[in-house]
Amino acid sequence: MIIQTFEYDTALAGALATRVIDAIDRQPNLVLGLPTGRTPLLFYAALRDESRARGTDWSRVRTFNLDEFVGVAPGAPGSYRAYMQRELFDAVNIPPAAVGFLDGSAADLDAECGRYERAIATAGGIDLLILGIGTNGHIGFNEPGPGLQPHTHRVGLLPATRAGNRAWFGGDLDRVPGEALSMGMATIMHARAIVLMATGAGKVPAVERMLRGPITTELPATFLQLHRDVTVMLDRAASPR
Ligand code: PGA
Repeated sequence: MIIQTFEYDTALAGALATRVIDAIDRQPNLVLGLPTGRTPLLFYAALRDESRARGTDWSRVRTFNLDEFVGVAPGAPGSYRAYMQRELFDAVNIPPAAVGFLDGSAADLDAECGRYERAIATAGGIDLLILGIGTNGHIGFNEPGPGLQPHTHRVGLLPATRAGNRAWFGGDLDRVPGEALSMGMATIMHARAIVLMATGAGKVPAVERMLRGPITTELPATFLQLHRDVTVMLDRAASPR
């Protein structure tokens, strides 16, 4: 794993935005995997700015987001689909049909997970996948436990994860769904290149275990040690001593 450390989270966000825009310049039909959460907000702000400044053409880019809440309609308040529309898609010329998203309100959630895996495969796989990391070491919504799921699946969210998502539901924990759909560990590991970003002191314990191992399902991000092209971008606060 390549580790890049930045003094400030704003510098990290700018560097990651430049990496993504450079990748689209080189490969206009890039397949991009995208995260939500608090950490990527600065990244999406930098991405909007850099995309506008450089006149980046998103007309052939395709995206797949990592996860979505169960029981939340696409675009409903609190949904990750609404977050992405607000933070990125409204600001760039990506065609709506090129946005890949899990539908947490689908009648048959298992079928929806299968559809998503096939859509990613049909797109040729993910070229560049951006990840955050939970304080408990989850990536996407692959939560710590005795086992991990390879493919896109339905998952129960742990209390810490639900608490971390209160902000999207007006701060009301009771409104945070208890389940989500998420790309699985193989879906993630099959991406050609991965960038994981972490900021803030609260992420130090998870980052430390991710970097130093041992590889364990109790800290899903440790599996990134097995991938051949991972960049870990940290601000100083999130860097283990
Ligand atoms: P956060 O979430 O950016 O809101 O801390 C990261 C994650 O859970 O992957």
